[in-house]
Amino acid sequence: MLYNPTPDALFAPVAAVDPLGFGKVAIVTGCASGIGLAVTQQLLAHQFSVCGLDITSFNYDLVRVTDHGRFHFHKGDLAAAGGCEEGVRICVATFGSRIDVLVNVAGLMDNFSSADGVSDDVWDKVIATNLTAPVMMMRAVLPFMKAKRDGAIINVASTAATSGAVAGVAYTSSKHGLIGATKNVAWRFRNDGIRCNAVCPGAIDSSIGKAIANGSNEPWDAEGFAEVEPFHALQAKPSASAPTITPHEVAKAIVFLVGDHARTINGISLPVDKAWGAV
Ligand SMILES: NC(=O)c1ccc[n+]([C@@H]2O[C@H](COP(=O)([O-])OP(=O)(O)OC[C@H]3O[C@@H](n4cnc5c(N)ncnc54)[C@H](O)[C@@H]3O)[C@@H](O)[C@H]2O)c1
Repeated sequence: MLYNPTPDALFAPVAAVDPLGFGKVAIVTGCASGIGLAVTQQLLAHQFSVCGLDITSFNYDLVRVTDHGRFHFHKGDLAAAGGCEEGVRICVATFGSRIDVLVNVAGLMDNFSSADGVSDDVWDKVIATNLTAPVMMMRAVLPFMKAKRDGAIINVASTAATSGAVAGVAYTSSKHGLIGATKNVAWRFRNDGIRCNAVCPGAIDSSIGKAIANGSNEPWDAEGFAEVEPFHALQAKPSASAPTITPHEVAKAIVFLVGDHARTINGISLPVDKAWGAV
C-alpha cells in the first residue's frame, strides 16, 4: 500500500513494497500456459510489471484482478521474422524503456524423430522456437539491460539440454544449443551487470509433460520414442515415489535465479528434476 487510506491516522502505514519486483519490468515468453503462466503469476505476486508474450490467447481470469494493471499480454509468433523485436517494442511502449528481467519459456516438444528421419518441418520449427527465438529475445533486451548495467535472463532448457535420452534430435539439439547461448551471454556480459542462467526441468505436470506421460495422439516417431521411453518411465509418470514436478515449482527456481540471492550465480544450468538428470 503506497498511500494512507485514512487521512486522520497519525502515521502512514508501512509501505508493503516487495524489493524483488517493485518498479521493475519483466518479459515472459510462453506466458499463456504451463511454466510460463506460473512464472507470470509469481512475478506479478512479487510486484513486477509483466509483459507476457505467447502465440495462443491468454485467459485473463488466471491473473488476479489486483495485478491486471501491471500485466500486459501480446499475442504473436516469436518464431516468425521480427516477432521477438515486436514483443520487446510492445513491452517498452507499455511499461517504458526499462527491462529488468527476461524469462524465455516458450517452447515446443518434437515428435521424437531421430537424425535418420527428422523432417525439415520439425527441425525448422523446433529450432526456430526453442533456440532462435530465445536468442533473438536476448538480442532485443540486451541494449536495455546494458544501458542500466543490470539485468537477469533465465532460459528454460530441459533435461534434454544435457541428456541425449529424453527427446528427438531436434528438441535435444535446440535445448543443448540454448545452454550454449546461456553460457555465452553470461560470460560476454558479466561485466555489464547482466546475469544469464538456465533451468533444466525434468518431467513437468504441464501440457507437454502430460502428453508424454499419458501417451500422445501426436504422430510420434515410434522407433525414436521407444528408445527414450525407458528413461521417461524413470520419472515422467506420476507415482508416489516419483511425483511429477509442477509448473509453480519450476517458477520458484526461476524466481530464485532472478533475485538477489542469486547475484553471484551466472552461466549455470540448474536442474529442476528431482534427480532425474542424475541417472
Ligand atoms: N513440460 C515438460 O515436461 C518440460 C520439461 C522440460 C522443459 N520444458 C520446457 O519448458 C517450456 C515450457 O513448457 P510447458 O511444459 O510449460 O509447455 P506449454 O505447452 O504449457 O507452454 C509453452 C507455451 O509456449 C507457447 N509457444 C509455443 N511456441 C510459441 C511461439 N512460436 N511464439 C510464442 N509462444 C509460443 C505456447 O503457446 C505455450 O503457451 C518449454 O520451453 C519446454 O521445452 C518442459
